[in-house]
Amino acid sequence: MKNKRPFIIATFAITVDGKVTTKKLAPVDFTSREDKLHLFRQRASADAVLIGHTSLKRDNVRLGLPAELQETRLKHGQSRCPLRVIVSNEGRIDHRLKIFQSDVSPIVIFSTKRMPRKHQLALEKKAILHLSSSKNLDLVRMLETLRKEYNVLTVECEGGPTLFRSLLERGLIDQLNLTVAPYMFGGAKAPTLTGVNKEFLPASVQCSLSDMRTIGDECFLTYRISRRRRPRK
Ligand SMILES: NC(=O)c1ccc[n+]([C@@H]2O[C@H](COP(=O)([O-])OP(=O)(O)OC[C@H]3O[C@@H](n4cnc5c(N)ncnc54)[C@H](OP(=O)(O)O)[C@@H]3O)[C@@H](O)[C@H]2O)c1
Repeated sequence: MKNKRPFIIATFAITVDGKVTTKKLAPVDFTSREDKLHLFRQRASADAVLIGHTSLKRDNVRLGLPAELQETRLKHGQSRCPLRVIVSNEGRIDHRLKIFQSDVSPIVIFSTKRMPRKHQLALEKKAILHLSSSKNLDLVRMLETLRKEYNVLTVECEGGPTLFRSLLERGLIDQLNLTVAPYMFGGAKAPTLTGVNKEFLPASVQCSLSDMRTIGDECFLTYRISRRRRPRK
């Protein structure tokens, strides 16, 4: 399986108390300029950038790159920006979101036939749609399609926590880039990296620290996610 799917890197920022956003799921803006550059560099190094529908909607991101990073990719014979990939089971994605106003790279949407017809008609003018007949998306199949049909070898997953958790539970995360920002939000309803789901993960996931840098009050961590899982105590 591993060779059939791309290598998946997730990039997140968390507060010191482990939150990725506030309970109102407000757009994430609690990190420095350096962290934003770090996110762009991670995005620039991938063949595709992956995002869940809620993060796309809440943060209304274009998932593009600054001009210098676009130029660097072009010099290396790559496309200007990575392929932009959106996942949604229900498919009620608003075609007026900013991502659809930007044509820096193709947009691919993986969803199901539950996507309402009017959304399909509007979105197929702006993106390539893959709609599965199953009630919920099969992430493994989606990754195989990215590898086979789009030649994607590396995916940068930019969240959110619901998508991250579903990838993690299926053993599909290979690396985690985590920025620890110097804030605490509190709030039981504010999601952590694995969301607001009260359930434990099926098994604890072992992370191995491969890099650590500090810039100002922020800490940039890189973890390799091991395939070996320790039974949860
Ligand atoms: N701090 C950070 O680094 C960071 C990074 C990213 C996001 N965030 C924050 O996280 C919040 C959103 O978190 P979230 O967990 O609610 O959102 P999310 O993971 O971005 O989106 C959840 C939605 O994406 C779709 N989805 C997720 N996993 C799927 C799967 N396995 N198969 C098919 N569809 C799937 C579903 O869409 P449908 O409902 O359409 O079916 C689901 O409801 C936002 O406030 C955002 O700002 C923070």
